[in-house]
Amino acid sequence: MERLFVAGFALLLAVSFAQAKQRPPTFDENFSVMWADDHVQTTGENGSLVQLMLDRNSGSAFSTIKKYLFGFISMNLKLVPGDSAGVVTAYYLSSETDNRDELDFEFLGNRSGQPYTLQTNVYSNGKGEREQRLMLWFDPSQDFHAYSFLWNKHHIVFYVDKTPVRVHRLTSATQDVFLSKQPMRLISSIWNADGWATRGGKEKIDWSGAPFVASYAEFTVDGCDEGDAACLANTSSPWWDRPSSWELSVQEEQALGVVRSKFLIYDYCLDTNRNPSPPTECSVNPK
Ligand SMILES: *[C@@H]1O[C@H](CO)[C@@H](O)[C@H](O)[C@H]1NC(C)=O
Ligand SMILES: *[C@@H]1O[C@H](CO)[C@@H](O)[C@H](O)[C@H]1NC(C)=O
Ligand SMILES: *[C@@H]1O[C@H](CO)[C@@H](O)[C@H](O)[C@H]1NC(C)=O
Ligand SMILES: *[C@@H]1O[C@H](CO)[C@@H](O)[C@H](O)[C@H]1NC(C)=O
Repeated sequence: MERLFVAGFALLLAVSFAQAKQRPPTFDENFSVMWADDHVQTTGENGSLVQLMLDRNSGSAFSTIKKYLFGFISMNLKLVPGDSAGVVTAYYLSSETDNRDELDFEFLGNRSGQPYTLQTNVYSNGKGEREQRLMLWFDPSQDFHAYSFLWNKHHIVFYVDKTPVRVHRLTSATQDVFLSKQPMRLISSIWNADGWATRGGKEKIDWSGAPFVASYAEFTVDGCDEGDAACLANTSSPWWDRPSSWELSVQEEQALGVVRSKFLIYDYCLDTNRNPSPPTECSVNPK
């Protein structure tokens, strides 16, 4: 009887081990909650749908447990629908060090029926102030769209679905402001930014619409974990580090040109009040 029990237990262990190996990592295996556990929900198959909430009491945030050094990192986001004025959803890579490196997507909410603004920024060695802002060609609160970073030793590309919306290139002129030394985590947060986000802070949050919910799915990372020397030294390069990923394709250059001419509403490189002589990287990144 006892032997049968032990055998049965061993079989159960073996089966659940096999299942654990098969199923993709869960939210808890990939991420940790940074603030407000009770404002973060995971649902869906294998906990694959994540929701961040903001109400009068709190916003919330999660981050990946691992830090990455180069790679392609992506998630699908669906932003707060309806009246989202004053609400900011930030989705970014950050080294979280004193002299931090950071790549930001920040979604600035708006009054119902008015479009979101997508702000991007690049921090290198603790210095940011490289904002660009664009309007999107779709309503980001209606459906999930992919927001991705491609990061190798040649350039950093911000993608919205398959469309590049920003490039930060490495050249001899930009080596001091390129990001290549600090591993970064993927972080997302939702918070009250009604002091500045919508029409310069004139539009306040309408709390009658709370809780404000941003949803996340399809976390993908194809890259090197911090400290994985074998990955970094890999000579049979992964796709994101092959020559074809070292620069934009002709089609991508064209698509970026369309985004800049049709959807860009602000570029620090073109802000001559703020930057009478444009920062060095502005000469190699698209104008
Ligand atoms: C959930 O896990 C099962 C394996 O246990 C897998 O077949 C399925 O594709 C997973 N679903 C999602 C949405 O990841
Ligand atoms: C966890 O990360 C892996 C990629 O490393 C991904 O395939 C899986 O879907 C992720 N799970 C969740 C719940 O995000
Ligand atoms: C909100 O909508 C107004 C009017 O369409 C627009 O000017 C503004 O850029 C939008 N975004 C924000 C964050 O204010
Ligand atoms: C090296 O890259 C190849 C191609 O992407 C991949 O199959 C292999 O797992 C990588 N090796 C290491 C150690 O990361």
